[in-house]
Amino acid sequence: MTVTAVIGSQWGDEGKGKVVDYLAERVDYVARFNGGNNAGHTVMNEFGTFKIHLVPSGIFSKNTTGLIGGGVVIDPAVLIEEIELLNKAGVGVDGRLWISPRSHLIMPYHKMLDGLYEEAKGAGATGTTRRGIGPVFADKVSYNGIRWTDFASDAFESRLQMQLVLKNKIIAALGGQVLNYEEVRDLYRGYYSKLKPYIKELFPLVQDGLKANKHFLLEQAMGTFLDTDWGTYPFVTASTTIPSAASAGLGIPPRYITDVVGVTKAYTTRVGAGPLPTEIHDVESGVYKKFAEVAATTGRTRRVGWLDLEIVKTAVAIGGVTELCVTKLDVLSGLDEIQVCVGYKLNGNDVTYADVDAYGLGNVECVYRTSKGWDEDISKAKSFEELPVNAQKYVKMIEDAAGVPVKWIGTGPEREATIRR
Ligand code: GDP
Ligand code: IMO
Ligand code: MG
Repeated sequence: MTVTAVIGSQWGDEGKGKVVDYLAERVDYVARFNGGNNAGHTVMNEFGTFKIHLVPSGIFSKNTTGLIGGGVVIDPAVLIEEIELLNKAGVGVDGRLWISPRSHLIMPYHKMLDGLYEEAKGAGATGTTRRGIGPVFADKVSYNGIRWTDFASDAFESRLQMQLVLKNKIIAALGGQVLNYEEVRDLYRGYYSKLKPYIKELFPLVQDGLKANKHFLLEQAMGTFLDTDWGTYPFVTASTTIPSAASAGLGIPPRYITDVVGVTKAYTTRVGAGPLPTEIHDVESGVYKKFAEVAATTGRTRRVGWLDLEIVKTAVAIGGVTELCVTKLDVLSGLDEIQVCVGYKLNGNDVTYADVDAYGLGNVECVYRTSKGWDEDISKAKSFEELPVNAQKYVKMIEDAAGVPVKWIGTGPEREATIRR
């Protein structure tokens, strides 16, 4: 039995989707356990290119069963579209994708409130994906949520009615368009009838799988520093993103997690507001243009920066990371020099990530180490030894700082563009 959690060690978009797709070839179950369709995980394989939001990225492996745990929040329209897209592409998810009836539904008022709160906050906005994530998790922990299991009785109707009394008052006060009960009820009844064949309690499946020594891959959404508790609060997401979330969000006892793969982009990106100590602000510079990316969910431009080893070290410590996968090493080709942040100073004193809050982190000065770059295109390299010496040194520097081995290196977005050490 192996239970491998794949987590992002930065602010999301580290390449988790690609890594999960790659690792899924050898597992029985692949599961999402946190977040919702704020996630956008890119996969490029023999079926095509996909930006997946809810279905686990390992579903492309034929013998794998996909699980969406109770810790995930679901916009049903997005999930239905995704299932249809995957089926049309020949992936065939029917009979091997299961959704926990404990998972909470993103309702139209969650999306409206997400947007209304962001607009009300103006310059202080979080820069959310506006998918309703903060409001749905707020409802979950304040006992106002609606779950798939509510359709099994008349709980759905009565809970929706009660929620609309509450939510329409807030929506009206913030200048939004109030919602009609019958319209929302009928829309969601329709979603339920489409998704019903996939909804099933996961408890026996997971427990039997553990007893039968099956292999599980747990796919985190977002990154360590978007975690509600350990991230750069309040510039975070509304769910736990560190590996412990898999325990509650899927129903895997913590002691069963055998490995934690920390996915680390060879530089840093962030979408939305909040501190990014190594940020490169000069949008005309060559390095900015090299690192620039478009967000998979919202199409926004990702902010970019140099690799921050203090961030990676903290993610390894808090997540119990056992090995790293360094992605996008190919993107660094062609730089004469590469900067890497090896520590922070605040008012002349050395500080760590844990010493400061988000506002303090916004004021730290990075201590940089300069590494020599390489010119060669590494996208076809098949082994560590084939990489230019300076690329090898860069990888070794990351593992020395992190204190755990770099077991995989990404040299391109496709599944096979992966070096295993
Ligand atoms: P996720 O949210 O962690 O799954 O990451 P995203 O899919 O949002 O963003 C990662 C981006 O990097 C996507 O466009 C991937 O196709 C791409 N990517 C992943 N690994 C590599 C790699 O090793 N090299 C290159 N060039 N692109 C990669
Ligand atoms: P994946 O799984 C990058 C960010 C948003 C915003 C903050 C709160 O693809 O790595 P939310 O909509 O969650 O309330 O927004 O979190 N964010 C992500 N950034 N990748 C993600 O997911 C993200 N999911 C949320 O940009 O700053
Ligand atoms: Mg992403």
